[in-house]
Amino acid sequence: MSQSAVAHIENFPCEPVTLFKQIIDAFSKKSTDGFTLMNLATVDEEFGVLNRNVIYRGLSEDDCIIYVTQRFTRNYKNIQANAKCGIAFYLPNLVVPSQGPNPANWQVRLIGATAEELPDSQLDAWWEKELLSSQIRDYIFPCGQPVNYDELLAKHDQFLRDYLASGRPLKRPATYTAFKFRAQRWDFLKAGSGQIADRVQYRCQQNGEWLATHVST
Ligand SMILES: Cc1cc2nc3c(=O)[nH]c(=O)nc-3n(C[C@H](O)[C@H](O)[C@H](O)COP(=O)(O)O)c2cc1C
Repeated sequence: MSQSAVAHIENFPCEPVTLFKQIIDAFSKKSTDGFTLMNLATVDEEFGVLNRNVIYRGLSEDDCIIYVTQRFTRNYKNIQANAKCGIAFYLPNLVVPSQGPNPANWQVRLIGATAEELPDSQLDAWWEKELLSSQIRDYIFPCGQPVNYDELLAKHDQFLRDYLASGRPLKRPATYTAFKFRAQRWDFLKAGSGQIADRVQYRCQQNGEWLATHVST
């Protein structure tokens, strides 16, 4: 016999970031590589819209999602020209304790998010958390430019040798930067196996408070 059920997002908190933290916490506990990915869409003059997967770095002190990039990337240029972005996370097969004992798949979207570049004074702290491979990429890999692979590899290997011989940490290059995002809406979708999804959408009111309602999937 066919079965159908409807997922339920239970007891959702007043602040969307509280639910987001619960979901990310559940994801971090089962993640094997320690990375959480999000898909970032920007407005692009040539293509209309352009999206890519990037690493979710964490939250700022004021609970905004942080994204790290380089000033020479296309996405940086897109954001400079138009700060409006869309962000989507897919976080499968999670047990979120506030949401009952059964695993479910979650999608979290930031709708109408506005990117704000972090001040220079905050960037060193994020740079110091970068993997060495990411730091080296930021120095010598010209994102999006056609390259001769063998030349780039030789440049990398030489850079690594010089770095190891120096015994000093790499300084943050001027191109390294980060953004945080403020959203007009946070949209949470939950669906267990064989279930029709439930969604809860938080809409930012004129007074800055969030109005949360179930919305149909
Ligand atoms: C797993 C993964 C994580 C990534 N994380 C980042 C990131 O945090 N920042 C970034 O600028 N690019 C990151 N990238 C690269 C982007 O997906 C993209 O290729 C790059 O930013 C250039 O995009 P653009 O040409 O649209 O600017 C990541 C790619 C993958 C596959």
